Amino acid sequence: MKLWGGRFREATDGRAEKFLASIAFDRRLYRQDIRGSIAHVRLLARSGVISAAEEERLVQGLEELLRDFEQGKVTLSEAAEDIHLNVETLLAARLGDLAQKLHTGRSRNDQVALDLRLYLKEEIRALQGMLCKLEATLLELAEKHIETVMPGYTHLQRAQPVSLAHHFLAYFEMFARDLGRLADCYRRLDVLPLGAGALAGPTFALDRVYAAAQLGFASLSENSLDAVSDRDFVVEFLAAASLIMMHLSRFCEELVLWSSEEFAFIELADAFTTGSSMMPQKKNPDVAELIRGKTGRVYGALIAVLTMLKGLPLAYNKDMQEDKEPLFDTVDTLKACLEVFVPMLASMRVDCRRLAESAAGRFDLGLATDLADYLVGKGLAFRTAHEVVGRLAAFCLEQQRALRELSLEEFRRFSPAFAEDVYQVLDVQAALARRAAYGAPAPARVREALARARARLGTWEDGVSREPG
Ligand code: ARG
Repeated sequence: MKLWGGRFREATDGRAEKFLASIAFDRRLYRQDIRGSIAHVRLLARSGVISAAEEERLVQGLEELLRDFEQGKVTLSEAAEDIHLNVETLLAARLGDLAQKLHTGRSRNDQVALDLRLYLKEEIRALQGMLCKLEATLLELAEKHIETVMPGYTHLQRAQPVSLAHHFLAYFEMFARDLGRLADCYRRLDVLPLGAGALAGPTFALDRVYAAAQLGFASLSENSLDAVSDRDFVVEFLAAASLIMMHLSRFCEELVLWSSEEFAFIELADAFTTGSSMMPQKKNPDVAELIRGKTGRVYGALIAVLTMLKGLPLAYNKDMQEDKEPLFDTVDTLKACLEVFVPMLASMRVDCRRLAESAAGRFDLGLATDLADYLVGKGLAFRTAHEVVGRLAAFCLEQQRALRELSLEEFRRFSPAFAEDVYQVLDVQAALARRAAYGAPAPARVREALARARARLGTWEDGVSREPG
């Protein structure tokens, strides 16, 4: 018998029933649903809709049901459509008529909004914890590689020397913004929709402030129509998740490149790579590739939910049931990726020599900008210096000789401004140290940046809801 059976003469068609059911995936919300129901029972008692004795029996019944859920002792039914009706049906099987009072002044519309918010609040906390672990790992790695000079790239062409620490700290900033976005999303999530009813609130005087306090919400929804039709928080979360995945995919792409024989900057641990079934020499960065690949499904989830919501009239529409699978899949995907990415990163081996050689570049051309800046120091205009060094670079390539190998005489053929001190410029460590602006890769600056980063991370870790700066 359906819970709305009164108005109906016919049973639901089996095919329609199967089609409409969400229990296969929203069963994941059982804890939130029962917790919300307990709060609702307390609310009904406080408002005098049910007696204190009824309150106790209902709460006890729900608590027992929760235990059975935890122990895998419940059988869910598709006929009961979703987690909300399943919980109610299971409670009725235990408490009989009394269970019929649970749904007073409540609708599945405010219930599902409540469950989703409770769920996402928890998951955001968990993700913030995982991201903080990633940040801590990045700081540890950066700490070790302050002096490890490497080529910085633009257009994937060697550009100027940077340090590996500086490179890691770039990712630290990206994930710091992600943490900020999650904290921001959390704030707008932290609003209680319970008490909005189906769309216009209950006709009973329910104390919503009391309900918010019980369920740990910072504030109450201001408008009952908005409370049941709003899924902005799902979209915001999926957008934040998409950026996290985008950042991970860029990092993974670099690990794939760096671990190739062509780059050979790093070697990923055996534990986080795979072999080839055919080619015995191969070591494949499958984990990094799969994280990069999973970015697509998270973007897909964002677009799916945005599109589902587009043009929906107020308030609740069944379309909105389609928010859950993309949301759950995204949470699972993010967690799975972070879980494996952090140890993979922590366990990779870095070839510091190879990085330094690559930083100087073929024929020392990684130091071309430094050489132009040197000429500026000797009084040339930058554009002129650029031209001079450009011609020098062409000369080196033609002669197959490094800048370091040219005689002062040869340098002077390109500009009389060159002097004996030119050779001091042609050193990658010195080149790194010269990049000493705030936010630049000179070891002295990176040490300061690391100290600031550590202090920032400390404030996020001891209270994850606080917004990272
Ligand atoms: N299973 C539904 C969902 O996920 C719950 C709300 C259904 N409300 C309704 N009036 N059909 O959105």
